[in-house]
Amino acid sequence: MLLAMRSNFLIHRQLLKSCCNRKFEFKFQSQFLRFYSGNNSLNNDDSNLMKGNLGSNSSGKSLDDLDFKKHHKIRSQIELLIQDYAKKPIPKLTYQLLTEYKPPLTDNDNFMLSIKTINLLLSYTCRRLNALQQLPYIAVLNPNIEISNSLYLKTLQSLLSIEYPYGLHNKENMVKLLSGFLDDHQDTLETLSRGLQEIIEFYPKEKTFKFLNEHLRDRISMKLLATHYLALVDQTKKIENENLKDFKMVGILHKELKISELVKQVTEYVGDLTFVNYDRIVPVKIVQGEDITFPCIPTNLEYILTEVIKNSSRAHIETSTPDNDLAEKPIEIAIFRHDYDNELEIRIRDFGGGIAPQVEANMFDYSYSTVEESKKDNGVEACMIPGEVINNVCGMGFGLPLCRAYMELFEGRLDIQSLYGWGTDVYLKLLGPTENELK
Ligand SMILES: Nc1ncnc2c1ncn2[C@@H]1O[C@H](COP(=O)(O)OP(=O)(O)OP(=O)(O)O)[C@@H](O)[C@H]1O
Ligand SMILES: [Mg+2]
Repeated sequence: MLLAMRSNFLIHRQLLKSCCNRKFEFKFQSQFLRFYSGNNSLNNDDSNLMKGNLGSNSSGKSLDDLDFKKHHKIRSQIELLIQDYAKKPIPKLTYQLLTEYKPPLTDNDNFMLSIKTINLLLSYTCRRLNALQQLPYIAVLNPNIEISNSLYLKTLQSLLSIEYPYGLHNKENMVKLLSGFLDDHQDTLETLSRGLQEIIEFYPKEKTFKFLNEHLRDRISMKLLATHYLALVDQTKKIENENLKDFKMVGILHKELKISELVKQVTEYVGDLTFVNYDRIVPVKIVQGEDITFPCIPTNLEYILTEVIKNSSRAHIETSTPDNDLAEKPIEIAIFRHDYDNELEIRIRDFGGGIAPQVEANMFDYSYSTVEESKKDNGVEACMIPGEVINNVCGMGFGLPLCRAYMELFEGRLDIQSLYGWGTDVYLKLLGPTENELK
Protein backbone atom coordinates (compact mmCIF):
# COMPACT_ATOMS: atom_id res chain seq x y z
CA MET A 1 0.00 0.00 0.00
CA LEU A 2 2.73 2.39 1.09
CA LEU A 3 4.76 1.49 -1.96
CA ALA A 4 1.83 2.11 -4.25
CA MET A 5 1.28 5.50 -2.65
CA ARG A 6 4.89 6.41 -3.13
CA SER A 7 4.89 5.39 -6.75
CA ASN A 8 1.71 7.43 -7.25
CA PHE A 9 3.47 10.35 -5.71
CA LEU A 10 6.39 10.02 -8.10
CA ILE A 11 4.03 9.97 -11.05
CA HIS A 12 2.13 12.96 -9.79
CA ARG A 13 5.31 14.86 -9.26
CA GLN A 14 6.33 14.09 -12.82
CA LEU A 15 3.08 15.28 -14.23
CA LEU A 16 3.05 18.38 -12.10
CA LYS A 17 6.52 19.18 -13.31
CA SER A 18 5.50 18.82 -16.93
CA CYS A 19 2.28 20.72 -16.28
CA CYS A 20 4.22 23.64 -14.86
CA ASN A 21 6.49 23.80 -17.84
CA ARG A 22 3.64 24.17 -20.27
CA LYS A 23 1.01 25.83 -18.06
CA PHE A 24 -1.54 23.14 -18.59
CA GLU A 25 -4.97 24.22 -19.74
CA PHE A 26 -7.21 22.39 -17.35
CA LYS A 27 -10.30 24.18 -18.53
CA PHE A 28 -10.00 22.60 -21.93
CA GLN A 29 -8.81 19.39 -20.48
CA SER A 30 -11.96 18.85 -18.47
CA GLN A 31 -14.24 19.84 -21.34
CA PHE A 32 -12.32 17.54 -23.55
CA LEU A 33 -12.61 14.66 -21.16
CA ARG A 34 -16.32 15.13 -20.59
CA PHE A 35 -16.86 15.14 -24.32
CA TYR A 36 -15.01 11.93 -24.89
CA SER A 37 -15.70 9.82 -21.88
CA GLY A 38 -19.41 10.63 -21.60
CA ASN A 39 -19.69 9.50 -17.99
CA ASN A 40 -16.20 10.00 -16.66
CA SER A 41 -15.79 10.37 -12.95
CA LEU A 42 -15.13 14.10 -13.01
CA ASN A 43 -18.23 15.68 -11.55
CA ASN A 44 -19.09 19.35 -11.84
CA ASP A 45 -17.41 20.23 -8.59
CA ASP A 46 -14.25 18.61 -9.75
CA SER A 47 -14.20 20.36 -13.06
CA ASN A 48 -15.07 23.66 -11.42
CA LEU A 49 -12.17 23.14 -9.13
CA MET A 50 -9.96 22.71 -12.14
CA LYS A 51 -11.36 25.77 -13.82
CA GLY A 52 -11.14 27.70 -10.58
CA ASN A 53 -7.54 26.80 -10.21
CA LEU A 54 -6.23 27.31 -13.62
CA GLY A 55 -9.04 28.31 -15.89
CA SER A 56 -10.15 31.73 -16.98
CA ASN A 57 -10.22 33.06 -13.39
CA SER A 58 -6.58 32.46 -12.96
CA SER A 59 -5.10 33.06 -16.35
CA GLY A 60 -1.36 33.35 -16.28
CA LYS A 61 -1.07 31.37 -13.05
CA SER A 62 1.30 28.48 -12.97
CA LEU A 63 1.06 25.46 -10.74
CA ASP A 64 3.95 26.83 -8.72
CA ASP A 65 1.61 29.52 -7.41
CA LEU A 66 -0.82 27.03 -5.91
CA ASP A 67 -0.85 26.06 -2.25
CA PHE A 68 -0.38 22.50 -1.11
CA LYS A 69 -4.10 21.73 -0.81
CA LYS A 70 -4.86 22.82 -4.34
CA HIS A 71 -1.82 21.00 -5.64
CA HIS A 72 -3.03 17.89 -3.94
CA LYS A 73 -6.51 18.22 -5.42
CA ILE A 74 -5.17 18.64 -8.91
CA ARG A 75 -2.87 15.70 -8.41
CA SER A 76 -5.81 13.60 -7.37
CA GLN A 77 -7.76 14.70 -10.42
CA ILE A 78 -4.97 13.67 -12.70
CA GLU A 79 -4.70 10.39 -10.88
CA LEU A 80 -8.44 9.85 -11.32
CA LEU A 81 -8.19 10.78 -14.94
CA ILE A 82 -5.46 8.20 -15.57
CA GLN A 83 -7.34 5.49 -13.70
CA ASP A 84 -10.61 6.39 -15.34
CA TYR A 85 -9.21 6.22 -18.83
CA ALA A 86 -7.16 3.12 -18.08
CA LYS A 87 -10.36 1.29 -17.20
CA LYS A 88 -12.09 2.14 -20.46
CA PRO A 89 -12.25 -0.92 -22.73
CA ILE A 90 -10.31 -0.25 -25.92
CA PRO A 91 -11.83 -1.67 -29.10
CA LYS A 92 -9.56 -4.05 -30.94
CA LEU A 93 -7.71 -2.64 -33.91
CA THR A 94 -9.45 -4.00 -36.99
CA TYR A 95 -9.23 -3.49 -40.72
CA GLN A 96 -12.70 -2.05 -40.49
CA LEU A 97 -11.39 0.70 -38.24
CA LEU A 98 -8.45 1.38 -40.56
CA THR A 99 -10.61 1.54 -43.68
CA GLU A 100 -13.42 3.66 -42.27
CA TYR A 101 -11.94 6.81 -43.78
CA LYS A 102 -10.21 6.55 -47.12
CA PRO A 103 -8.10 9.09 -48.96
CA PRO A 104 -8.87 11.76 -49.99
CA LEU A 105 -10.26 12.70 -46.57
CA THR A 106 -13.00 15.33 -46.46
CA ASP A 107 -12.84 17.90 -43.66
CA ASN A 108 -15.50 15.96 -41.84
CA ASP A 109 -13.61 12.66 -42.28
CA ASN A 110 -10.54 14.38 -40.93
CA PHE A 111 -12.38 15.71 -37.90
CA MET A 112 -13.94 12.33 -37.10
CA LEU A 113 -10.63 10.55 -37.60
CA SER A 114 -8.93 13.05 -35.28
CA ILE A 115 -11.51 12.41 -32.57
CA LYS A 116 -11.14 8.65 -32.84
CA THR A 117 -7.36 8.74 -32.96
CA ILE A 118 -6.96 11.08 -29.99
CA ASN A 119 -9.55 9.23 -27.97
CA LEU A 120 -7.86 5.87 -28.54
CA LEU A 121 -4.41 7.29 -27.86
CA LEU A 122 -5.66 8.77 -24.60
CA SER A 123 -7.00 5.42 -23.47
CA TYR A 124 -3.82 3.59 -24.45
CA THR A 125 -1.62 6.20 -22.76
CA CYS A 126 -3.55 6.04 -19.51
CA ARG A 127 -3.59 2.25 -19.57
CA ARG A 128 0.20 2.24 -19.93
CA LEU A 129 0.66 4.82 -17.19
CA ASN A 130 -1.58 2.84 -14.91
CA ALA A 131 0.34 -0.37 -15.66
CA LEU A 132 3.68 1.35 -15.01
CA GLN A 133 2.27 2.66 -11.78
CA GLN A 134 1.30 -0.86 -10.69
CA LEU A 135 4.90 -2.04 -10.99
CA PRO A 136 6.66 -2.46 -7.65
CA TYR A 137 8.53 0.44 -6.11
CA ILE A 138 11.90 -0.94 -7.21
CA ALA A 139 10.73 -0.72 -10.82
CA VAL A 140 9.40 2.80 -10.53
CA LEU A 141 12.75 3.88 -9.12
CA ASN A 142 14.69 2.34 -11.98
CA PRO A 143 15.96 5.21 -14.16
CA ASN A 144 15.24 3.40 -17.43
CA ILE A 145 11.66 2.63 -16.47
CA GLU A 146 11.30 6.16 -15.19
CA ILE A 147 12.26 7.49 -18.64
CA SER A 148 9.47 5.45 -20.23
CA ASN A 149 7.06 6.67 -17.60
CA SER A 150 7.92 10.33 -18.20
CA LEU A 151 7.44 9.86 -21.93
CA TYR A 152 3.93 8.55 -21.45
CA LEU A 153 3.19 11.47 -19.15
CA LYS A 154 4.47 13.80 -21.81
CA THR A 155 2.19 12.10 -24.34
CA LEU A 156 -0.76 12.47 -21.99
CA GLN A 157 0.03 16.10 -21.56
CA SER A 158 0.23 16.76 -25.29
CA LEU A 159 -2.99 14.83 -25.98
CA LEU A 160 -4.82 16.85 -23.36
CA SER A 161 -3.42 20.12 -24.61
CA ILE A 162 -5.61 19.99 -27.72
CA GLU A 163 -8.34 22.56 -27.51
CA TYR A 164 -11.71 21.02 -28.07
CA PRO A 165 -13.27 21.27 -30.62
CA TYR A 166 -11.21 23.67 -32.76
CA GLY A 167 -7.90 21.97 -32.13
CA LEU A 168 -9.26 18.83 -33.73
CA HIS A 169 -9.95 20.73 -36.96
CA ASN A 170 -6.42 22.01 -37.07
CA LYS A 171 -4.69 19.45 -39.30
CA GLU A 172 -1.27 21.02 -38.92
CA ASN A 173 -1.47 20.78 -35.16
CA MET A 174 -2.65 17.21 -35.28
CA VAL A 175 0.20 16.28 -37.62
CA LYS A 176 2.67 18.02 -35.32
CA LEU A 177 1.31 16.28 -32.26
CA LEU A 178 1.30 12.81 -33.80
CA SER A 179 4.73 13.21 -35.41
CA GLY A 180 6.03 14.41 -32.04
CA PHE A 181 4.51 11.38 -30.37
CA LEU A 182 6.23 9.02 -32.83
CA ASP A 183 9.56 10.80 -32.35
CA ASP A 184 9.28 10.73 -28.56
CA HIS A 185 8.56 7.03 -28.45
CA GLN A 186 11.25 5.92 -30.86
CA ASP A 187 13.59 4.53 -28.26
CA THR A 188 11.24 3.64 -25.42
CA LEU A 189 11.30 -0.05 -26.16
CA GLU A 190 15.02 -0.23 -25.77
CA THR A 191 14.97 1.83 -22.58
CA LEU A 192 12.12 -0.05 -21.02
CA SER A 193 13.54 -3.47 -21.85
CA ARG A 194 16.81 -2.46 -20.23
CA GLY A 195 14.98 -1.29 -17.16
CA LEU A 196 13.02 -4.50 -16.89
CA GLN A 197 16.14 -6.58 -17.35
CA GLU A 198 17.69 -4.72 -14.44
CA ILE A 199 14.79 -5.51 -12.13
CA ILE A 200 13.91 -8.99 -13.39
CA GLU A 201 15.59 -10.68 -10.40
CA PHE A 202 13.35 -8.85 -7.99
CA TYR A 203 10.12 -9.27 -9.87
CA PRO A 204 8.41 -12.53 -10.94
CA LYS A 205 9.25 -13.44 -14.53
CA GLU A 206 5.59 -14.16 -15.45
CA LYS A 207 4.55 -10.70 -14.28
CA THR A 208 7.34 -9.06 -16.26
CA PHE A 209 6.31 -10.96 -19.39
CA LYS A 210 2.66 -10.12 -18.90
CA PHE A 211 3.54 -6.47 -18.45
CA LEU A 212 5.79 -6.50 -21.52
CA ASN A 213 3.25 -8.32 -23.65
CA GLU A 214 0.54 -5.81 -22.90
CA HIS A 215 2.94 -2.90 -23.11
CA LEU A 216 4.28 -3.90 -26.51
CA ARG A 217 0.84 -4.60 -27.93
CA ASP A 218 -0.41 -1.21 -26.79
CA ARG A 219 2.71 0.48 -28.06
CA ILE A 220 2.42 -1.16 -31.48
CA SER A 221 -1.25 -0.17 -31.65
CA MET A 222 -0.52 3.44 -30.66
CA LYS A 223 2.16 3.74 -33.28
CA LEU A 224 -0.06 2.18 -35.92
CA LEU A 225 -2.84 4.65 -35.18
CA ALA A 226 -0.54 7.67 -35.31
CA THR A 227 1.20 6.45 -38.48
CA HIS A 228 -2.16 5.65 -40.08
CA TYR A 229 -3.47 9.15 -39.42
CA LEU A 230 -0.32 10.77 -40.81
CA ALA A 231 -0.35 8.52 -43.86
CA LEU A 232 -4.00 9.35 -44.62
CA VAL A 233 -3.31 13.08 -44.38
CA ASP A 234 -0.29 12.73 -46.61
CA GLN A 235 -2.15 10.63 -49.17
CA THR A 236 -5.01 13.14 -49.24
CA LYS A 237 -2.52 15.90 -50.01
CA LYS A 238 -0.92 13.86 -52.78
CA ILE A 239 -4.25 12.95 -54.36
CA GLU A 240 -5.37 16.57 -54.31
CA ASN A 241 -2.10 18.01 -55.59
CA GLU A 242 -1.34 15.41 -58.22
CA ASN A 243 -4.93 14.68 -59.20
CA LEU A 244 -4.46 10.96 -58.64
CA LYS A 245 -7.45 8.66 -59.02
CA ASP A 246 -6.28 5.25 -57.92
CA PHE A 247 -4.26 5.13 -54.76
CA LYS A 248 -2.82 1.80 -53.66
CA MET A 249 -2.79 2.68 -49.99
CA VAL A 250 -5.43 3.40 -47.38
CA GLY A 251 -3.25 4.92 -44.70
CA ILE A 252 -0.87 2.17 -43.61
CA LEU A 253 -2.82 -0.52 -45.42
CA HIS A 254 -1.73 -1.61 -48.89
CA LYS A 255 -4.60 -2.80 -51.06
CA GLU A 256 -2.60 -5.30 -53.16
CA LEU A 257 0.96 -5.73 -52.02
CA LYS A 258 3.22 -7.92 -54.12
CA ILE A 259 4.58 -10.12 -51.36
CA SER A 260 7.65 -11.36 -53.24
CA GLU A 261 8.81 -7.77 -53.76
CA LEU A 262 8.69 -7.12 -50.04
CA VAL A 263 10.54 -10.40 -49.43
CA LYS A 264 13.29 -9.28 -51.81
CA GLN A 265 13.58 -5.91 -50.11
CA VAL A 266 13.85 -7.55 -46.70
CA THR A 267 16.33 -10.11 -47.99
CA GLU A 268 18.59 -7.34 -49.19
CA TYR A 269 18.41 -5.58 -45.85
CA VAL A 270 19.13 -8.75 -43.88
CA GLY A 271 21.96 -9.55 -46.30
CA ASP A 272 23.56 -6.18 -45.46
CA LEU A 273 23.30 -6.95 -41.76
CA THR A 274 24.78 -10.43 -41.97
CA PHE A 275 27.50 -9.15 -44.25
CA VAL A 276 28.56 -6.59 -41.65
CA ASN A 277 28.27 -9.06 -38.80
CA TYR A 278 29.54 -12.33 -40.33
CA ASP A 279 30.94 -11.33 -43.69
CA ARG A 280 28.40 -13.69 -45.30
CA ILE A 281 25.11 -13.28 -47.14
CA VAL A 282 22.73 -16.24 -47.14
CA PRO A 283 20.72 -16.44 -50.36
CA VAL A 284 16.93 -16.47 -50.17
CA LYS A 285 14.88 -18.19 -52.87
CA ILE A 286 11.18 -17.74 -53.50
CA VAL A 287 10.10 -21.25 -54.41
CA GLN A 288 6.39 -20.61 -54.76
CA GLY A 289 3.98 -17.70 -55.23
CA GLU A 290 6.28 -15.15 -56.87
CA ASP A 291 3.29 -13.24 -58.36
CA ILE A 292 0.96 -13.29 -55.37
CA THR A 293 -0.49 -10.03 -54.10
CA PHE A 294 -2.39 -9.53 -50.86
CA PRO A 295 -3.90 -6.60 -48.95
CA CYS A 296 -1.92 -6.08 -45.77
CA ILE A 297 0.09 -3.61 -43.67
CA PRO A 298 3.55 -3.65 -45.32
CA THR A 299 5.43 -2.18 -42.34
CA ASN A 300 4.16 -4.96 -40.06
CA LEU A 301 4.94 -7.74 -42.50
CA GLU A 302 8.32 -6.19 -43.21
CA TYR A 303 9.18 -6.26 -39.52
CA ILE A 304 8.14 -9.89 -39.13
CA LEU A 305 9.93 -11.10 -42.27
CA THR A 306 13.09 -9.25 -41.23
CA GLU A 307 13.17 -10.94 -37.85
CA VAL A 308 12.42 -14.41 -39.20
CA ILE A 309 14.89 -14.21 -42.11
CA LYS A 310 17.49 -12.80 -39.73
CA ASN A 311 17.06 -15.83 -37.45
CA SER A 312 17.27 -18.25 -40.40
CA SER A 313 20.34 -16.53 -41.86
CA ARG A 314 22.06 -16.63 -38.49
CA ALA A 315 21.25 -20.37 -38.17
CA HIS A 316 22.68 -21.09 -41.64
CA ILE A 317 25.85 -19.11 -41.04
CA GLU A 318 26.52 -20.38 -37.53
CA THR A 319 26.04 -24.05 -38.47
CA SER A 320 27.95 -23.72 -41.72
CA THR A 321 31.07 -25.85 -42.07
CA PRO A 322 33.46 -26.22 -45.02
CA ASP A 323 31.78 -29.59 -45.67
CA ASN A 324 28.12 -28.52 -45.74
CA ASP A 325 28.70 -24.86 -46.69
CA LEU A 326 25.24 -24.02 -45.35
CA ALA A 327 25.86 -20.29 -45.67
CA GLU A 328 25.59 -20.79 -49.44
CA LYS A 329 22.40 -22.86 -49.28
CA PRO A 330 19.29 -20.73 -49.88
CA ILE A 331 16.56 -20.19 -47.35
CA GLU A 332 13.31 -21.12 -49.11
CA ILE A 333 10.20 -19.01 -49.10
CA ALA A 334 6.81 -20.24 -50.30
CA ILE A 335 3.82 -17.91 -50.59
CA PHE A 336 0.20 -19.13 -50.80
CA ARG A 337 -3.01 -17.15 -51.01
CA HIS A 338 -6.33 -18.76 -50.03
CA ASP A 339 -9.02 -16.52 -51.42
CA TYR A 340 -11.90 -18.52 -49.94
CA ASP A 341 -11.02 -17.38 -46.45
CA ASN A 342 -9.04 -14.29 -47.34
CA GLU A 343 -5.81 -15.69 -45.97
CA LEU A 344 -2.17 -15.43 -46.93
CA GLU A 345 0.35 -17.98 -45.80
CA ILE A 346 4.10 -17.59 -45.99
CA ARG A 347 6.44 -20.43 -45.15
CA ILE A 348 10.06 -19.61 -44.43
CA ARG A 349 12.15 -22.77 -44.48
CA ASP A 350 15.75 -22.96 -43.38
CA PHE A 351 18.25 -25.79 -43.07
CA GLY A 352 20.22 -24.29 -40.21
CA GLY A 353 20.12 -27.28 -37.85
CA GLY A 354 16.76 -26.59 -36.19
CA ILE A 355 16.10 -25.39 -32.68
CA ALA A 356 17.24 -27.32 -29.62
CA PRO A 357 14.33 -28.42 -27.36
CA GLN A 358 15.47 -26.26 -24.42
CA VAL A 359 15.65 -23.22 -26.74
CA GLU A 360 12.29 -24.04 -28.32
CA ALA A 361 10.65 -24.03 -24.90
CA ASN A 362 11.79 -20.46 -24.26
CA MET A 363 12.13 -18.79 -27.63
CA PHE A 364 8.92 -16.79 -27.32
CA ASP A 365 9.97 -15.39 -23.94
CA TYR A 366 11.02 -11.76 -23.89
CA SER A 367 14.75 -11.35 -23.49
CA TYR A 368 15.42 -14.99 -24.28
CA SER A 369 18.27 -15.28 -26.71
CA THR A 370 21.10 -17.64 -27.45
CA VAL A 371 23.25 -14.72 -28.59
CA GLU A 372 26.25 -14.62 -26.26
CA GLU A 373 26.29 -11.80 -23.73
CA SER A 374 29.53 -10.45 -25.19
CA LYS A 375 27.98 -10.10 -28.63
CA LYS A 376 24.87 -8.31 -27.46
CA ASP A 377 24.40 -4.58 -27.76
CA ASN A 378 27.16 -4.10 -30.28
CA GLY A 379 24.65 -2.45 -32.53
CA VAL A 380 25.80 -4.45 -35.51
CA GLU A 381 23.01 -7.00 -35.63
CA ALA A 382 20.63 -4.15 -36.21
CA CYS A 383 16.95 -4.79 -36.29
CA MET A 384 14.12 -2.55 -37.20
CA ILE A 385 10.74 -1.71 -35.83
CA PRO A 386 8.25 -0.22 -38.24
CA GLY A 387 8.83 3.49 -38.38
CA GLU A 388 11.94 3.43 -36.28
CA VAL A 389 15.46 2.08 -36.07
CA ILE A 390 16.53 0.48 -32.85
CA ASN A 391 20.04 -0.78 -33.05
CA ASN A 392 20.56 -2.11 -29.59
CA VAL A 393 17.49 -4.28 -29.08
CA CYS A 394 19.28 -6.83 -31.20
CA GLY A 395 20.29 -10.08 -29.65
CA MET A 396 18.05 -9.20 -26.75
CA GLY A 397 15.55 -11.90 -27.65
CA PHE A 398 12.71 -9.60 -28.61
CA GLY A 399 12.52 -10.83 -32.22
CA LEU A 400 10.09 -13.76 -31.99
CA PRO A 401 7.81 -12.48 -29.21
CA LEU A 402 7.41 -9.18 -31.03
CA CYS A 403 6.72 -10.97 -34.33
CA ARG A 404 3.97 -12.92 -32.61
CA ALA A 405 2.54 -9.73 -31.13
CA TYR A 406 2.49 -8.14 -34.60
CA MET A 407 0.88 -11.19 -36.17
CA GLU A 408 -1.83 -11.48 -33.55
CA LEU A 409 -2.78 -7.82 -33.76
CA PHE A 410 -4.91 -8.52 -36.85
CA GLU A 411 -5.84 -12.11 -36.01
CA GLY A 412 -2.81 -13.60 -37.75
CA ARG A 413 -0.69 -16.50 -36.48
CA LEU A 414 2.97 -17.35 -36.28
CA ASP A 415 3.87 -21.04 -35.88
CA ILE A 416 7.26 -22.65 -35.81
CA GLN A 417 8.02 -26.25 -36.63
CA SER A 418 11.56 -27.27 -36.11
CA LEU A 419 13.29 -30.54 -36.75
CA TYR A 420 16.30 -30.51 -34.49
CA GLY A 421 19.44 -31.42 -36.39
CA TRP A 422 17.87 -30.46 -39.69
CA GLY A 423 16.08 -27.11 -39.97
CA THR A 424 13.16 -24.85 -39.14
CA ASP A 425 9.89 -23.93 -40.83
CA VAL A 426 8.20 -20.70 -39.81
CA TYR A 427 4.56 -20.32 -40.90
CA LEU A 428 3.01 -16.88 -41.07
CA LYS A 429 -0.76 -16.79 -41.54
CA LEU A 430 -2.25 -13.39 -42.25
CA LEU A 431 -5.91 -12.52 -42.50
CA GLY A 432 -6.69 -9.66 -44.85
CA PRO A 433 -9.44 -7.06 -44.96
CA THR A 434 -12.62 -7.95 -46.84
CA GLU A 435 -13.31 -6.66 -50.36
CA ASN A 436 -16.03 -4.45 -48.97
CA GLU A 437 -13.68 -2.85 -46.51
CA LEU A 438 -11.30 -1.96 -49.33
CA LYS A 439 -13.93 -0.50 -51.69
N1 LIG B 1 15.41 -20.42 -37.54
C1 LIG B 1 16.03 -20.64 -36.39
N2 LIG B 1 16.98 -21.61 -36.30
C2 LIG B 1 17.62 -21.87 -35.14
N3 LIG B 1 17.37 -21.21 -33.98
C3 LIG B 1 16.43 -20.26 -34.00
C4 LIG B 1 15.71 -19.90 -35.19
N4 LIG B 1 14.84 -18.91 -34.88
C5 LIG B 1 15.01 -18.63 -33.58
N5 LIG B 1 15.96 -19.44 -33.04
C6 LIG B 1 16.41 -19.44 -31.62
O1 LIG B 1 15.44 -18.77 -30.83
C7 LIG B 1 16.09 -17.74 -30.06
C8 LIG B 1 15.11 -16.59 -29.86
O2 LIG B 1 14.90 -15.92 -31.09
P1 LIG B 1 14.57 -14.36 -31.13
O3 LIG B 1 14.49 -13.97 -32.56
O4 LIG B 1 13.40 -14.13 -30.27
O5 LIG B 1 15.82 -13.68 -30.41
P2 LIG B 1 17.30 -13.40 -30.98
O6 LIG B 1 17.36 -13.70 -32.43
O7 LIG B 1 18.26 -14.15 -30.12
O8 LIG B 1 17.45 -11.84 -30.70
P3 LIG B 1 16.73 -10.65 -31.51
O9 LIG B 1 15.78 -11.27 -32.48
O10 LIG B 1 16.09 -9.82 -30.49
O11 LIG B 1 17.84 -9.98 -32.27
C9 LIG B 1 17.32 -17.38 -30.84
O12 LIG B 1 18.33 -16.84 -29.97
C10 LIG B 1 17.73 -18.70 -31.44
O13 LIG B 1 18.50 -19.45 -30.55
MG1 LIG C 1 15.92 -12.89 -33.75
